[in-house]
Amino acid sequence: MVKGKQKKRSRSTVHSSRKQRSRAPDRERTRGKRPDLRVEIAGLPLKNPVMTASGTFGYGTEFTPFFDLNALGAIIVKTVTMHPRLGNAPPRIAETAAGMLNSIGLQNVGIDGFRREKLPFLQTLATPLLVNIAGKSVEEFADLAKRLSDAEGVAGIELNISCPNVAGGLDYGTDPRLTYEVVRAVRQTTTLPVIPKLSPNVTDVTVIARAAADAGADALSLINTIVGMAIDVRTRKPKLPGNTGGLSGPAIRPIAVRMVWEVAQVVKLPLIGIGGIMTGEDAIEFFLAGASAVQVGTANYLDPLAPMKVLAGIEAYLIRHGFDAVTPLIGTVLPPDPETE
Ligand SMILES: Cc1cc2nc3c(=O)[nH]c(=O)nc-3n(C[C@H](O)[C@H](O)[C@H](O)COP(=O)(O)O)c2cc1C
Repeated sequence: MVKGKQKKRSRSTVHSSRKQRSRAPDRERTRGKRPDLRVEIAGLPLKNPVMTASGTFGYGTEFTPFFDLNALGAIIVKTVTMHPRLGNAPPRIAETAAGMLNSIGLQNVGIDGFRREKLPFLQTLATPLLVNIAGKSVEEFADLAKRLSDAEGVAGIELNISCPNVAGGLDYGTDPRLTYEVVRAVRQTTTLPVIPKLSPNVTDVTVIARAAADAGADALSLINTIVGMAIDVRTRKPKLPGNTGGLSGPAIRPIAVRMVWEVAQVVKLPLIGIGGIMTGEDAIEFFLAGASAVQVGTANYLDPLAPMKVLAGIEAYLIRHGFDAVTPLIGTVLPPDPETE
């Protein structure tokens, strides 16, 4: 696919969603019709806006007993690194109020193992596959992207510049200069859509989003986990051996919605909202804030059918509120009511 074409398509998605903003929902007109759930991200037409979040859906095979993976909008697999990684020593997760802390440490089979052992199954699916990658250097990010560019069945690349659980994992996503460098290097290496995944562990996420957009990103995913800590008061020790971990789940949703909303004001790229989505209405919050698609993460641990339930919930909301498609909702949060005395 030609890069220029992808860019044009992704812009038109933003424009068309804007044009549709003025279209008021019409319960009569849409009565009895199934809403159109299609969206376009980074030039990729998706049958619906529900994806799986990296690291919470394995390599897909683990979920085949539960539902047909072709029903998903896109699949994003666990971060792939240049070499296989065993990850951090256990315990690697701790439950917290309305969420969990994890410190997996990017356990994965490495790029060669991924291509050899995991990709063949994923290639059998009709659902677009986005491969999430993390390099130790700008060059390694570019090299990983190159090794995926000629792999059949890879529709796009998500850049994990935001992992809080490995040394240096947050460097690229918290410094706008490094964000620019890594996105630029990958952009120049591949014609596949490039989707940096932003970290919430910054003061102003819009600065990082702008840097990624300037470097040629096709879309942005946000957010990765938030650095947190939990202490066992009986032992008086941290619950995770590395002291801190990444917080995910419903506890982070308001932060994620806020960040999507902030980034939507400054960057004209399709956004993929992530953070604590458990239901269709949670996903709708992200669409209203400006996301064109969503990823379901921690919810997969509670219920392997979560992505399907989120999808059904989105459809039910659209029907209930008289929308004939999902795109007219994107970025249409209304102004708050004026303050009353
Ligand atoms: C156990 C676990 C492992 C994760 N591993 C990765 C990973 O390998 N790469 C990545 O980009 N994000 C990873 N994430 C972050 C999720 O993809 C997602 O951005 C985050 O959890 C917020 O979404 P959620 O609240 O719906 O889980 C992981 C999250 C969890 C809970």
